[in-house]
Amino acid sequence: MKKFLIAVSALTMLGGVAMSSAQASPSEDLKQFRAYFFKKFPGVKLQDYANGIYALDATRRFEWEAMEEFPPYEDGIEVGKKLFEKYDLGSCFKNGGIGIKHHYPYWDKKTQKVRTLEQDIMACLKKKGVDTKAAKIGWKKGKLAAISAYMAYTSRGKPTSVVIDSSDASMAAYTRGKTHFYAKRGQLNMACADCHMYNAGMMIRGNLLSPALGHTTHFPVWRRKWAKKTAAKKGKSGPLDGFGTMHRRYGGCNKQVRAKPFKAQSEEYRDLEYFHTYMSNGIKLNGPAVRQ
Ligand code: HEC
Repeated sequence: MKKFLIAVSALTMLGGVAMSSAQASPSEDLKQFRAYFFKKFPGVKLQDYANGIYALDATRRFEWEAMEEFPPYEDGIEVGKKLFEKYDLGSCFKNGGIGIKHHYPYWDKKTQKVRTLEQDIMACLKKKGVDTKAAKIGWKKGKLAAISAYMAYTSRGKPTSVVIDSSDASMAAYTRGKTHFYAKRGQLNMACADCHMYNAGMMIRGNLLSPALGHTTHFPVWRRKWAKKTAAKKGKSGPLDGFGTMHRRYGGCNKQVRAKPFKAQSEEYRDLEYFHTYMSNGIKLNGPAVRQ
């Protein structure tokens, strides 16, 4: 542990780059954000950022591509599709819910809040009279993540197209998300930006750190770690074991720095998702994808 802390404080010192000014417009933020990574990784093309650490490391990429040839999430997507059809979820969405994920999250004028795909799926389930508690449909994994993964799958190849509404309330939500991203937190006193900007491409506890650019394109993800954990808990493996939503990942990353995670679909995480996803505008969706 001590060793890790020393490594972390060394990393933090290296990461002393100033965050972009709080006053900058979202489009200026996006430009600066992108320019930072382009300078850091001159060989990596914009679209390749969708592949996380595999955009940076050829050996890991090779193993990952082999895995993607027989994707472990395929059966899970099939389950997601069946649930989507069973509950007639298409009727709640534009274009029958097909190929629309790249517009999420969005600013909902009615509630004056950021709205995520998972929220819209849950609202639709309720509208259809599904007892989500009895059906064991929670926010972070399992069935909801599978439905979301199916919807993501139908949106593959569409460029992330998040619109930051120019109203004051929306701009405030965006700024809160941006602040979360750059603010140091937890006992380790580290920000998302410390790991996923300033130290992207470096190792931490045996993990290569991914760039935040492109982070959101492949969610929900299918993680081997989650699949193993769930299977061990149940004593058998199932097709949905590896799935997790963006907010499940946020919680895990908050915990890594020993900060108390926020609840999935809390306003805090939705605002973070608003900022975080907007930063990847233009990068094509490729979810779900396999990760460690
Ligand atoms: C102490 C370092 C650290 C901090 C701080 C941290 N993360 Fe992570 N994060 C990791 C590691 C390690 C991984 C797994 C390897 C990778 O893909 O980067 C990861 C993975 C991720 C992934 C998945 C990447 C992919 O390609 O699927 C996302 C998204 C993410 N982090 C977002 C965040 C956000 C948002 C924050 C701030 C709330 C944050 N992280 C804070 C270490 C960190």
